[in-house]
Amino acid sequence: MIRFLTAGESHGPALTGIVEGVPAGVPLTADDLNEHLARRWLGYGRGGRSKIERDKVRIDAGVRFSKTMGSPIALHLPNASHKKDKAGWPETMAVEGTGEGIEKVTLPRPGHADLVGTQKYGFDDIRPVIERSSARETAMRVACCSVARQLLRELGIEVGSHVVRLGEVGYETPEDWADAVQALIDEGGARAVYEAADASETRMLREDLTEECIAHIEATKKAGDSLGGQYEVVVTGVPPGLGSYVHWEHRLDGQLGHAIMSIQAQKAVEVGNGIAGAYRPGSRIHDPITEDENGRLRRTSNNAGGIEGGTSNGMPIIVRGFMKPIPTLIKPLGTVDIASREPQPTRYERSDVTSVPAASTVAEATVALTIANAVLRKYGGDSFAELSDRFMRETSEN
Ligand SMILES: Cc1cc2nc3c(=O)[nH]c(=O)nc-3n(C[C@H](O)[C@H](O)[C@H](O)COP(=O)(O)O)c2cc1C
Repeated sequence: MIRFLTAGESHGPALTGIVEGVPAGVPLTADDLNEHLARRWLGYGRGGRSKIERDKVRIDAGVRFSKTMGSPIALHLPNASHKKDKAGWPETMAVEGTGEGIEKVTLPRPGHADLVGTQKYGFDDIRPVIERSSARETAMRVACCSVARQLLRELGIEVGSHVVRLGEVGYETPEDWADAVQALIDEGGARAVYEAADASETRMLREDLTEECIAHIEATKKAGDSLGGQYEVVVTGVPPGLGSYVHWEHRLDGQLGHAIMSIQAQKAVEVGNGIAGAYRPGSRIHDPITEDENGRLRRTSNNAGGIEGGTSNGMPIIVRGFMKPIPTLIKPLGTVDIASREPQPTRYERSDVTSVPAASTVAEATVALTIANAVLRKYGGDSFAELSDRFMRETSEN
């Protein structure tokens, strides 16, 4: 099982990650991770920070001659804004000293972790809550999960995503984009899906929707507001048999739900056409089984999103995430000063108008880790050679 830990504040000097449980012999370089870190900055509607950070992770341990060694992998990612901003972050985020003279943040933003964070940890200053609840954490998370993604790539499993809605603009139903995604899968698996999405400023597959969304983001920004949206993550090359129905924590759909919902501001998740399934009769949802010309059992549709009984069925895995609008708004919302207890309007800090395109790339990463762990649980191995031998032998029979 691959697990990882991250440490680091949004405006501290750096983010740190440790990834443990990766078999020895997986080809890995910092560039493999940096490719996905750069993709996390994609998307129209990002705030000023996207112009400051040039995320480049450094591998400090666990890799030798571009191959993992089976030992923990240590990652280091500096926060460029710590020094480049004029906001005095080295003083505000100093590890030592008393903090005397540093202004406290006392106006909690509705929809953010500000108020609950102070209530939980007993702070009279919201700064520590802002620093760790910030989605800056997802930079190191993407780096850590991209190690697992690299392992999957070596086995022919790819993860991709695309945005399907931003606020009021987007496709109406999954049927509207299914053919476009299937054509990309046929062309080059989930990698073709993410490459096509990356070519759009909103990570959408249709040019007219991209343009409409950019106008929607601009209008929202002018109104001092923010937007949420929806995206789809697709995994291809998945063999049948990952996950299990035998116990609740082995269910792959449950694990994927956690993978998406663990990302800041993600408020709903759908596996396959799960939502439509709640409204339609079974005969219009369950995917008929057929035998193909090679004697393999296949589905003629994929409403189940590649998972039945908590177990992958060999069809592409499809998971959709729903993100709420960004809580930091130019337009003030009502709040209460936690020091004076006076009602006050919120104050604006530099922020995105929407981060759905970025969130979709973070979701790719967390889904990749989940699938990699399901692969390791089924096929195991201390070295990549052991793992891939077993994987190739057993999947060629399905
Ligand atoms: C990629 C990404 C970027 C985000 N950027 C911002 C931002 O610029 N400003 C903001 O207020 N919230 C942003 N958020 C959302 C907050 O991190 C999130 O709402 C907050 O941590 C509270 O958690 P919750 O929404 O899950 O309750 C972002 C989230 C993601 C996934």
